[in-house]
Amino acid sequence: RKRVVVFISGGGSNMLSLADACNQPDFPAEIVAVISDKPSAAGLAKAEARRIPTRVFERKNFSTKAEHEAAILSALDEIRPDIICLAGYMRLISSAFISRYEGRIINIHPSLLPLFPGLHTHQRALDSGMKIAGCTVHFVTEGMDEGPIVAQAAVPVMPGDTADSLAARVLTVEHKLYPLALQLLADGKARMEDGRVVLDHLRDTSLQS
Ligand code: GAR
Repeated sequence: RKRVVVFISGGGSNMLSLADACNQPDFPAEIVAVISDKPSAAGLAKAEARRIPTRVFERKNFSTKAEHEAAILSALDEIRPDIICLAGYMRLISSAFISRYEGRIINIHPSLLPLFPGLHTHQRALDSGMKIAGCTVHFVTEGMDEGPIVAQAAVPVMPGDTADSLAARVLTVEHKLYPLALQLLADGKARMEDGRVVLDHLRDTSLQS
């Protein structure tokens, strides 16, 4: 089974959905650690309740971004993850870090990328007048919420939606989409090649991008 480390900054509901999937028999991955940049992240207690080891690396305890990342990288050297899942990790990862785990870091973002990367994504989706919203799992490359897309799911925007009500509807599909995407990656059915995603299950179909 592939060794997965999940990075969080907050509630950790996506981390829990990945943990639940990993508890299923035959799932091709296991969560070996949760790393947070916030000691207050509610997800830490949720991980600990499931006996998943946690580590906290607070940015303010390091003088530079490079030192902060070096500390995380040295912890990862010990943990030896095959895959890193960013799950509400609200920090931009440097290209030096990414190159160490090229093609093995995925992120979930609560919009239909490439629309609405970054913060306040739900309000911007509402302001756009779009009638669908959704979420995206993508390989992490340089740049915020960029990188080749592994999987997406859509939900309707309803009349009267607020950013919070839309976020809640999107989050429910995030919890389904992220385990699916992790399964594809862990099974080797989704790969990044030459900066593009190759999806074996969509080979020879028009859905292959
Ligand atoms: C999720 O909606 C995730 O997609 C989003 O933060 C939330 C974290 O919730 N991530 C981003 O906005 C990254 N740009 P969680 O901690 O309960 O999983």
